[in-house]
Amino acid sequence: MTPKKILSLVSRFFGQSEPAHSADQPLLDSLLALAWVVEARDPYTGGHLWRVSRYASLLARQMGLSDRDAANVSVGGFVHDLGKIAIPDSVLLKTERLTDAEYAVIKTHPEIGKRLLAKHPFGERIADAVYAHHERPDGKGYPLGLTGNEITPMAAIIGICDAFDAMTSTRSYRKAMSIDDAFAVVRDNLGTQFNREYGEMFLKLGGSVNLYHIAGHSDEGIPLQHCHTCGPTIVVRSDTPLDAEVFCPACTTGYRFKGLFSTPRPTGNKANAADLAPSPDLALIERVAGQLRTLS
Ligand SMILES: [Fe+2]
Repeated sequence: MTPKKILSLVSRFFGQSEPAHSADQPLLDSLLALAWVVEARDPYTGGHLWRVSRYASLLARQMGLSDRDAANVSVGGFVHDLGKIAIPDSVLLKTERLTDAEYAVIKTHPEIGKRLLAKHPFGERIADAVYAHHERPDGKGYPLGLTGNEITPMAAIIGICDAFDAMTSTRSYRKAMSIDDAFAVVRDNLGTQFNREYGEMFLKLGGSVNLYHIAGHSDEGIPLQHCHTCGPTIVVRSDTPLDAEVFCPACTTGYRFKGLFSTPRPTGNKANAADLAPSPDLALIERVAGQLRTLS
């Protein structure tokens, strides 16, 4: 199936987050919805795309990029793992150590993302975020093993923000690292894993902006809700009603949502397949799309 066909199917499946403000709006929405599906497949990454997008946007501003470039970086952060849509669950969701063969499969996602974006009207603007966010200045990254300045600012920014969010998020096999500890890892790996100049700017950003309103959140002002067993994994939205039943996507335990800053109460239910079906947050997608639209 061609990327265009996939995008059109996704667009039809999810509908448009109307109103469409330009001819390109449904295309951009469908691209973001497709990226969101990647996130919906992995119970432990709830909010990852939004957080990477937010960190990247702040870093782009810190670096003095133009509004338009910062908007592109923000959208790039949201879409960077698009290619993971083609990675089988048996590999993507595996909690034990990956074999070399499985890791080789994971490493195909930048190339797949690049191919999915090849004919998309916005593809060129965010291609580096998708194709090169796992490159490293020391040449030990993938898919090409680029070095130093061969890695574009957009790819380098997303690389830092992606790693930072991975470190500060809970996974099935480990708890989230503190923000300060994650900064220390970035500091220790400047010039090797992370672009030195941009990494230093990220550390400076962390000294001036409170990133706790992004870490552990899945949207502006919306913290991840805690599952008693799995930790902060439950994503709620701006429109989730009080007393709604929400489910931990990792262990499927049901909880009664008691407000953003109250502990959710277990209901004793387990989610069925319909409860866990992906349903993209169109309000959030519309907001991210709006950043690019207003500046294009
Ligand atoms: Fe990735």
